[in-house]
Amino acid sequence: MTEVGKDIQKAKAILEAGGLVAIPTETVYGLAANALNPKAVAKIFEAKNRPSFDPLIIHISTFAELYKYTSQSLGQLTEIANKFWPGPLTVLLPKRDIIPDVVTSGLERVAVRVPQHELTLSLLSSIDFPLAAPSANPFGYVSPTTAQHVYDQLAGKVDYILDGGPCQVGVESTIIGIEVADLVVYRKGGLAIEDLERNFEGKVRVNDFSASNPSAPGMLKKHYSPDKQVLVYKEGESYDKETAFLRFSSPISGYSYQFVLSESADLAEAAARLFQGLRALDQMPVKTIVIEFVPEVGLGRAINDRLRRTIAEE
Ligand code: TXA
Ligand code: MG
Repeated sequence: MTEVGKDIQKAKAILEAGGLVAIPTETVYGLAANALNPKAVAKIFEAKNRPSFDPLIIHISTFAELYKYTSQSLGQLTEIANKFWPGPLTVLLPKRDIIPDVVTSGLERVAVRVPQHELTLSLLSSIDFPLAAPSANPFGYVSPTTAQHVYDQLAGKVDYILDGGPCQVGVESTIIGIEVADLVVYRKGGLAIEDLERNFEGKVRVNDFSASNPSAPGMLKKHYSPDKQVLVYKEGESYDKETAFLRFSSPISGYSYQFVLSESADLAEAAARLFQGLRALDQMPVKTIVIEFVPEVGLGRAINDRLRRTIAEE
């Protein structure tokens, strides 16, 4: 049975007993287990039907506890943490032995972040282990941004869903690695690359993903897939009436099935509504979803990255 509620004590008890709890964060809901308990972590892979070569992010409540999980010197990290944590930024760091291999899929680095959500931060500070948590969706499908989304997709597979309301950011965290003096972006996400660049001028590099890139094994090319066929919008093309459109700021005339991301053309609002929009379109009585890319700046880069993956071949 899957329960939904706001009871932190209950969530804590389930996690301490090795169970699974869906947790709210500012980006998307996570499917959490005790990161130091390999059996509990294995349940995450089972519930999501996720391949075991795809490593997990661990979530902690304060920068102060980070030394327990990484051997990296904290110098450079302090600056990053002060600026961006809690927040939608994940950092890849050399792991200590206490982090089981099942969390990192045997990789030397562990992905860590401090999420920005009041409920989850109090849950994290009440337990004495980090939470391993991927997005709380079946593998390859759209990430959940409400407790209801989690329930719709994982009921019966998760013990408790901690309901923290709709996610404010709506796309997953930006993932970076630290390479010598550079910050390398592996996943474009809820922290705009421009914000990193403003703070670390000349030091930010974007590692353009490819499905075969071994440094980011989970960043599969095809992801975030609705069940329907997805095509890219072409100006001037005429479409079947049974087509649904994902639009950035204005609907197109003549079609009944549409989802507009942000009428005021605000990229933050568009990001927050992206996955909800893909879900809504997927439920419309149509055969095809036609998507429109958004401006390639700020959070638009993370949105377009997700959109490209919805149309990618396997
Ligand atoms: O916003 C987020 O990051 C959400 C919330 C729940 O925190 N989590 C999330 O997790 O998006 P997930 O598992 O859906 O995506 C994590 C990505 C995967 O693509 C995985 O391959 C990559 O992070 N990753 C995790 N550990 C890694 C590592 N050690 N090296 C390279 N990539 C790693
Ligand atoms: Mg995911």
